[in-house]
Amino acid sequence: MSKLPTSIRPLLVLAALAAVALPASGCGTSNADIARGRVLFIKKCGVCHQMAEAGTTAQIGPNLDDAFASARAVGEDRDTVEGVVSAQIESPRPSTANPAVSMPPDLVSGEDRDDVAAYVGLYAGVPGAAPPKVPGGPGAQVFANNGCGGCHTLSAAKSGGVTGPNLDEVLPGQTAAMVHESIVDPDKKLAKGYPPNVMPASFEQTLSPKELEDLVQYLLESTSGGKGGSQKGTAQGSAGRAKPSGG
Ligand code: HEC
Ligand code: HEC
Repeated sequence: MSKLPTSIRPLLVLAALAAVALPASGCGTSNADIARGRVLFIKKCGVCHQMAEAGTTAQIGPNLDDAFASARAVGEDRDTVEGVVSAQIESPRPSTANPAVSMPPDLVSGEDRDDVAAYVGLYAGVPGAAPPKVPGGPGAQVFANNGCGGCHTLSAAKSGGVTGPNLDEVLPGQTAAMVHESIVDPDKKLAKGYPPNVMPASFEQTLSPKELEDLVQYLLESTSGGKGGSQKGTAQGSAGRAKPSGG
């Protein structure tokens, strides 16, 4: 239903922290959009935190599966984890270990914060959590793991996001180098009519060179009706950027 007045939200957070049973009507969980929370997590949190279900591997902040595994093991439920995450987003603890990498406050607020907290509350520290498996090969899995479909329509992935351009429409005719650049440096050449700073600019850090290559290949193959032979395998060379091969 509707949003709670901000004045009483801190009380709810405290209640959740204390693991007090919340009245069913007062809890945000049921309203939260988990799929949206996942996309926001990958964009705003995945640059610093590892979490298995999100497919993120960054090590700047603590691994969130490790952070909540023991709480899960002693029976804390998702509402409790959600409350802790929400409080941490609102006013992050100053990092004692390394002040240079403290978590910035209010990375997401309002409904966005509720959605992210609900998503993390559902999956962080849950044994065996992993990104949903999809058919279509390694590139399709990279597309699914990273929330691309939350913002983009791509019929091969059965995704219907409308925040960014429809990839079925804009990718035919593009080269691997162009697609690669759009993914690693999205604000360099903005798609016409779209604002900057919406597509995450972190995929070069969060994806390995191999994952990026698989992703570009998948996008080309799934939008050019299966030809795309002339565009194959030139992402690195024609992008003019040598990348470490990492393997
Ligand atoms: C710039 C890097 C950075 C970003 C971005 C970031 N965090 Fe953090 N986060 C950290 C660091 C560093 C800590 C450890 C703070 C400390 O020392 O207590 C932390 C701690 C946490 C904790 C507490 C973990 C524990 O051990 O109890 C949670 C929960 C958390 N972050 C969630 C999030 C969420 C959700 C987002 C996205 C909205 C996010 N973080 C974005 C760096 C980041
Ligand atoms: C939070 C929303 C969001 C997410 C997540 C996202 N994108 Fe985007 N994407 C956009 C927006 C908005 C644009 C248009 C602005 C621009 O060019 O940066 C865009 C542009 C693009 C383009 C250029 C399209 C063109 O017109 O040539 C490609 C390719 C692309 N995204 C692929 C991806 C892939 C692959 C992923 C996942 C790894 C992804 N995007 C994740 C929002 C998103």
